[in-house]
Amino acid sequence: MPLIQWNKQLSVGIDSIDDQHKKIINMINALNDALAEGQANEVLVKIFDGLAVYTVKHFGYEEDLFAQYGYAETQAHKNEHESLIKQVTELQQKMNDGDFIISIKVMAFLKEWLTNHILKTDMAYTEFLVSKGVS
Ligand SMILES: [Fe+2]
Ligand SMILES: [Fe+2]
Repeated sequence: MPLIQWNKQLSVGIDSIDDQHKKIINMINALNDALAEGQANEVLVKIFDGLAVYTVKHFGYEEDLFAQYGYAETQAHKNEHESLIKQVTELQQKMNDGDFIISIKVMAFLKEWLTNHILKTDMAYTEFLVSKGVS
């Protein structure tokens, strides 16, 4: 069973963003599966790197929309993105230094931050962006 299951409660009501969130969820699930299968560290590192790159891209997509339409909560939202990227980068650094093995704790952290961020911070822009015609 996947670590995170997509469901309608996770929908922000904007298809392009839902698709990106689904992709991030798939990547976290892939990492979790690889971990459960006892895959080599190189495999885990590769999936993790892909997840980090795609997450930065997704955050950029949201922030470009905020800038384009003048979203009032831009700064607070960006701060949250920045802190998440910082944490992921730290994990990545540890992995690259070889003193880190992806653990259940890391998977719980990834699941937690993603779902919390979508449910609280991302959901908050739905009404505004939909009113601007973003789909
Ligand atoms: Fe966000
Ligand atoms: Fe998001």
